[in-house]
Amino acid sequence: MRGFSSLVGTALAMPSTLVSAHPRPHGHGGSHWLRPYNSNWDSVQSSGGPVSSATATPSASYIPLTSVAPTASSSAVSSASPVGVLLPLYTGPGENGDAWKPVYNAITSHSMVPFYVIINPDSGPGTTEEYIQAITKLKSSPNVQLLGYVPTTYAEKPNAEIEKVISTYGNWASYTANNITLSGMFFDEAPNTNDNAKIKYMQNIAQSARSKNMNTVVFNPGAKLEDAAAAQYFEAADFIVEFEKDYTEWQSESTEEKFSTTQYRSKDAVIVKQTPEDADIAAIVRDASNLGIGAVYLTHDGDYMRLDSVSKVALALAQA
Ligand SMILES: *[C@@H]1O[C@H](CO)[C@@H](O)[C@H](O)[C@H]1NC(C)=O
Repeated sequence: MRGFSSLVGTALAMPSTLVSAHPRPHGHGGSHWLRPYNSNWDSVQSSGGPVSSATATPSASYIPLTSVAPTASSSAVSSASPVGVLLPLYTGPGENGDAWKPVYNAITSHSMVPFYVIINPDSGPGTTEEYIQAITKLKSSPNVQLLGYVPTTYAEKPNAEIEKVISTYGNWASYTANNITLSGMFFDEAPNTNDNAKIKYMQNIAQSARSKNMNTVVFNPGAKLEDAAAAQYFEAADFIVEFEKDYTEWQSESTEEKFSTTQYRSKDAVIVKQTPEDADIAAIVRDASNLGIGAVYLTHDGDYMRLDSVSKVALALAQA
């Protein structure tokens, strides 16, 4: 079995400092660094090169995290899905995955907490062996689902372009040296408006991800959906981030200002930014959990470069 880097890595080898110094997707609007697209990887795939899809895992064997059963000694069996962490892991792994250590620790220390980890490699995982190893390590914990990042530019990114990205992420399943198969897609810059063309666009790309066995589909409008469209968006996704704002707004907005409908609350996700160091993270996680929200994350910074809140959120969820 040949390693990915021996197939495609040479031309695209990238110093780790570059990988970990990524600018952030939010607030930049530029798509220049958000390309999971790797032309060499594509050519390997389309030429039917040495990578075989024979070992791609059939989706039938996939057990959703939310159905992880309690241990035999546990008598309290809850039918509700546990609330998960929705983690935008936009920083690179660094050498030996060192930059992701807080994430590995939180994941293994809280094995009953589902982690939906959004990864955003610059040009696909093939750019560095480092990324492949780090992703493989993340996936070695059964409570982790990896989601590939791509912005939809408010449903205006040309269809061919976004389909290509989805397909590239889907093709990771055919990489054989390591299991880097993704569980789903995170569609950033998602629309929230009651606009038929935009709703249709989101339905289509969600379907496209699922057709490639990436079955956990997240939309991130980052704001409340327009009421008239909420049901249609929620029906198309597994999670929708209706709140991706600062801590001060989480504190000041009412529940009705934050969320469109109670009907799909378990599909709601929340990301709170600029959380002060001394904020009561456990209390916010409890509130979100009491509202029935499906996934949460709080971070101390505004651009997802810091990872020191991950273990706090996971601990709070484990105790909620
Ligand atoms: C590879 O990863 C996918 C997605 O996480 C998982 O469903 C599958 O069971 C894994 N395959 C193997 C052989 O471990």
